[in-house]
Amino acid sequence: MRAVDIIIRKRDGNALSQEEIKFLIEGCVNKNIPDYQLSAWLMAVFFQGMSTEETAFLTDSMLHSGEIMDLSDIPGKTVDKHSTGGVGDKISIPLAPIAAACGVFVPMMSGRGLGHTGGTLDKLDSITGYKTRLTQEDFKRIIKECGYAMTGQTEKVAPADKILYALRDVTGTVESIPLITASIMSKKAAEGTGALVFDVKCGNGAFMKTPEDAETLARMLVNTGKVLGKKCSALITAMDNPLGKMTGNFLEIEESMDILEGKGPADTTELTLEIAARMNMLAGKASSPEEGRIAAEKAVSSGRAMEIFLKNVALQGGDEKKLLSDRGKRRSQYKTEIRAESSGVISAINAYEVGKAGIVLGVGRTRADEEVCPDAGIIFHAKQGTKVQKGDIIMEAYGKDSSCLNEAADMLQKTIVYAAESGGNNTRNTTGNIILKEITDGK
Ligand code: URA
Repeated sequence: MRAVDIIIRKRDGNALSQEEIKFLIEGCVNKNIPDYQLSAWLMAVFFQGMSTEETAFLTDSMLHSGEIMDLSDIPGKTVDKHSTGGVGDKISIPLAPIAAACGVFVPMMSGRGLGHTGGTLDKLDSITGYKTRLTQEDFKRIIKECGYAMTGQTEKVAPADKILYALRDVTGTVESIPLITASIMSKKAAEGTGALVFDVKCGNGAFMKTPEDAETLARMLVNTGKVLGKKCSALITAMDNPLGKMTGNFLEIEESMDILEGKGPADTTELTLEIAARMNMLAGKASSPEEGRIAAEKAVSSGRAMEIFLKNVALQGGDEKKLLSDRGKRRSQYKTEIRAESSGVISAINAYEVGKAGIVLGVGRTRADEEVCPDAGIIFHAKQGTKVQKGDIIMEAYGKDSSCLNEAADMLQKTIVYAAESGGNNTRNTTGNIILKEITDGK
């Protein structure tokens, strides 16, 4: 077999066989195929696409390029969730203990933030002492002891994805639905979970900007999961405004604790409970989303989910007492305020631009080796749909140092869209509509 022939076949719109895809992925990992040929092949896939079958072959080859976690000794059904990434998306942090409180075992492998989207690991790292690099033994022990564990992906998980993702990043081939699907699914399947709920974000702050693209990706993810023997469902959710009332690393831990205590913002609470409901169904703990939601609500109102969260913090090395005493107080000393420039109703706050301002403040990073600031972030005092008077505080922004504040404040001021009355072109309103569509069948 020769790489050039496979590239030509894909360039001309043919479907590749399992052997051809396996040959490419093996050649990618053992360096037998040079980057220029892999790049040409990625571009051919970008333009010609891939069938579900080809995508499943690609996922399977990428998955087997590295270690696969064996969770067969976990005494129950394992279900994880994957979000395609957004601004203020802290859902995994309250979700895992809520699902665990309902009897679901949650093996959660997460990533760091890159670009305008935040990363669960960066948020967890802001808890003093919390370890996000667990050995396989510790990962499984903690899941058994409190129902869930959170860890980072090691170098050994799907190494083919690491190589291909780096090439996609510099060859304009990131936004390809089959390539995104194989990238996500190979890493999620490697963590050994039995089932998965996908939160496919849609809007200016997401990879998928239109409902049509989000739906295509959601169907491809669910279908590919099925081919790999995983039960999957997907929710398409709005990401044109930041989620919740706080973005930032420690700030999002605080908001997660609010959700766990039943006093979180409406949008984040709704999304967390609806995903937990689907996880309950996939684990066989509920026979309908409504039943799954009632169980999730009880896990919160009984205090059980918060109890499990604090147990997990302690099991992963975190300082539980400090976490509780830092709550509401831990803020960077470098602060600025963004005030309303006119009176009226805010129709939107642009999530993508907020994410970019977050990088300036030190919440996120543009290069994988950059440090983030745990105490930087933004608190929203008004969001889409809020009526404001000129001069009202809309946001408080906390930065990594004093020099970033003016630039970030200018950027944040520009994220605010005013309307004469509530509405605008965002895909949700203040009280709900965070969930745009559900996909349970990948066809
Ligand atoms: N997330 C991933 O892990 N891979 C992609 O290609 C896109 C989003």
